Amino acid sequence: MARLAVNVDHTATIRQSRENVSYPDPVAAAVLAELAGASGIVVHLREDRRHIQERDVKILREVVQTRLILEMAATPEMVGMALGIQPDVVTLVPEKREELTTEGGLDLVGHWETIAETVDTLQNSSIQVSIFIDPVQEQIKLAHKANASMIEIHTGTYCDAATPQKKKQEFAKITAAAKLARKLKLGINAGHGLSYNSITDFKGFNEIDEFSIGHSIISRAVLVGMERAVSEMLALIKGL
Ligand code: PXP
Repeated sequence: MARLAVNVDHTATIRQSRENVSYPDPVAAAVLAELAGASGIVVHLREDRRHIQERDVKILREVVQTRLILEMAATPEMVGMALGIQPDVVTLVPEKREELTTEGGLDLVGHWETIAETVDTLQNSSIQVSIFIDPVQEQIKLAHKANASMIEIHTGTYCDAATPQKKKQEFAKITAAAKLARKLKLGINAGHGLSYNSITDFKGFNEIDEFSIGHSIISRAVLVGMERAVSEMLALIKGL
């Protein structure tokens, strides 16, 4: 069964929408997610600190019992932060200030030297590195060449596809990407935009080691509670 890593960023989005409140706390969300069976807790510390704050990552490092997965841009500031905090895994993502959420995978062709150097620095400090990439063969080969432990396949384009034909095309890219990554012995994660509906599209496709899911789980948690929201997603993953 694939693992579920729960991204708690949007707990912090709700908190940051009001000045001077300390609730809801993403640390509490993380504890509840773990109690419900999550295998990892994901946070994205963005340059603009729009949701997760440094304080959250530091406390999560103390509290998380499973694995702490830090999404970050490959910048000197963030590399320094990661070396200090020592998450279990760093997922390297592209970051633009003006985007609402991460808009696509990292382009390893365009950022080769920075990424290769960042992977090396972090893995030499015993932090496993995952690279968030589009399901494109060339990108996967470069992730392997950079010596990353794993990739995270960007599922956002698939989830946003408006027609059945486009969905089919995008899903075929994901399955081909996962097969190549498996051949290259990379760990295979997948995430972005996955919902309680789209997760079931992965039925019978057993190449994904871990799904990384945030927005849909936190949205459901607002209505039914964190533990139930995580358990319901886990039940769907178990049925794949
Ligand atoms: N994976 C990566 C690399 C992401 O940047 C995000 C969004 O922070 C996710 C997964 C989770 O996406 P969503 O919140 O749409 O489930």
